[in-house]
Amino acid sequence: LFAGDWQFFWASPSIETLPPMQGVEIAFAGRSNVGKSSLINALTNRNALARTSHTPGRTQELIFFKGPGPLDARTPELRLVDMPGYGYASAPKTQIASWTKLIHNFLLGRASLARVYVLIDSRHGFKDADNEVLTTLDKAAVSYQIVLTKADQVKKSALEQTMATMASSLRKHPAAFPEMLVTSSRDGGGMAGMRAAIVKLLRE
Ligand code: GTP
Ligand code: MG
Repeated sequence: LFAGDWQFFWASPSIETLPPMQGVEIAFAGRSNVGKSSLINALTNRNALARTSHTPGRTQELIFFKGPGPLDARTPELRLVDMPGYGYASAPKTQIASWTKLIHNFLLGRASLARVYVLIDSRHGFKDADNEVLTTLDKAAVSYQIVLTKADQVKKSALEQTMATMASSLRKHPAAFPEMLVTSSRDGGGMAGMRAAIVKLLRE
């Protein structure tokens, strides 16, 4: 599945222009610059399927990527959804408001959304904007899991401490998986586990 041919499929600047719902969709949400687009590239073994950047605010629409088609007759088509980042303080206020609305509306109203990966920078842990998104996901009752990114940038001991603090805040969120995934798009850490979890979700 992940070694196959992934393609750009659709870009939506607004909730009115989403593609028809089909198959299984998995969305990647998180603060600006956390590594959403890089993670999609790492999972699909592509360098530049999703556009990445050093500066926050790169992804400005909901971007849908389509997998190489059903694995077999029982397995639905998979789409990965790259989302604009939230919590990006230096963008114009109207721009932030419109992205935030788009993100929350999409997460609340998409029946084909099977899982959301909420990405958190391993160096920073949860911020206020993350907690707001988790609360939206609890309301939507979409199953979601926390993915720590850029694990190559922190020492193991610091990461364990951040994860312990995060685990206690996660207990307040009923729709969250209690386990977090630890990843690095740079060194490939955690990719095999994430791919396996996605394949398992498709076969459920
Ligand atoms: P927006 O679309 O702007 O919200 O950002 P994004 O979340 O899609 O982040 P993106 O993938 O564009 O990556 C942001 C920056 O972080 C880039 O400079 C990436 O090279 C870097 N980055 C992403 N993943 C990793 C990682 O696992 N390790 C390290 N060290 N850097 C990473
Ligand atoms: Mg991006």
